[in-house]
Amino acid sequence: MVSVAVLGAAGGIGQPLSLLMKLNTKVTKLNLYDIVNVPGVAADISHVATNAEVKSYLGPKELADAVSNIDLAIIPAGVPRKPGMTRDDLFKINAGIVKSLVEAIAENSPRAIIAIISNPVNSTVPIAAEVLKNAGVYDPKRLFGVTTLDVVRASRFVRDIRSDIDSTTLRVPVVGGHSGNTIVPLLSMASTSLDLNDKAVEDLTNRIQFGGDEVVKAKDGAGSATLSMAYAGARFADSVIRALSGESVVEPTFIDLTADAEGAKQIRELGAADLAFFAVPVELGKNGVERIVPLPAGGITEFEREAIKVAAGALATNIATGVNFVKSA
Ligand code: NAD
Ligand code: LMR
Repeated sequence: MVSVAVLGAAGGIGQPLSLLMKLNTKVTKLNLYDIVNVPGVAADISHVATNAEVKSYLGPKELADAVSNIDLAIIPAGVPRKPGMTRDDLFKINAGIVKSLVEAIAENSPRAIIAIISNPVNSTVPIAAEVLKNAGVYDPKRLFGVTTLDVVRASRFVRDIRSDIDSTTLRVPVVGGHSGNTIVPLLSMASTSLDLNDKAVEDLTNRIQFGGDEVVKAKDGAGSATLSMAYAGARFADSVIRALSGESVVEPTFIDLTADAEGAKQIRELGAADLAFFAVPVELGKNGVERIVPLPAGGITEFEREAIKVAAGALATNIATGVNFVKSA
């Protein structure tokens, strides 16, 4: 019995993600919200023979109803990149979109778990946190930036150079943030030993960090990753939903490190120092973040340690940009 709202449901990610949520048998109510085209998307998806009740909500007048009595809000609303743009270039438009959507959630379902896909994730998640603080309902255990696509890419890109490895079971922890060099795959801590030389580690790390650009370039002006993102978003949402029903599930995700201050000590010592937000492997539970899962002691390589430091520098600016956007509004 889980109620889910997808905000931005008529978009390139929103449509396949909504379909995948309709296929999730634990979802009983599926509210689809967008500012355009959502009645058609909802009517279409509602015919899929699963038990979830699908409802359409169109435009700001219907937003409060869309986010009332929900357990989980997934937010893929906002503009995607075109070639030549960075994710930070999306901030101008997407910051205001995320702010207004989270304000509505804070007012109508203050205990909902919020999963943010809209870019730049490194800044939109801090925006959401500030909005929730202002509304007096902030629980850092219940707010997530979705970085699952980086984890998915890591599993898949390994297979491109090691065809003996099963992509479906390989897990590579990816920490940091979600843009370029803030994405730090910890290849040395993959669930299967990868046995790669230094050059291969460097190349693979770079490919995972800039995997989004491959899709932006190939789509040539028609947007960024949508289908692989819908897969990744649905996988993250399913993990949250399974955790709500009592299972313990681990997913790397971008969180407020105060959600588990004790668990955050290790990643802080590795170079994240004073950062408020960082992607880390998180054990999910009934209340969102159960704990930050410790990285294997002594496992991290010098290359990964350096990459974390670089990521931390860029992230500090991204986080401040998000926080200041709400504080100066
Ligand atoms: P899209 O343009 O195809 O769809 C976006 C949807 O958001 C549209 O239907 C639009 O009408 C809707 N929207 C705009 N303003 C809204 C508002 N105020 N309320 C509700 N809906 C609103 O874009 P897309 O390809 O689906 O990408 C969406 C976002 O996801 C982009 O910011 C993109 O950069 C990001 N993204 C993130 C990841 C990730 O790993 N976190 C991966 C891929 C894309
Ligand atoms: C991705 O990683 O594919 C997304 O963040 C979209 C983008 O802009 O690359």
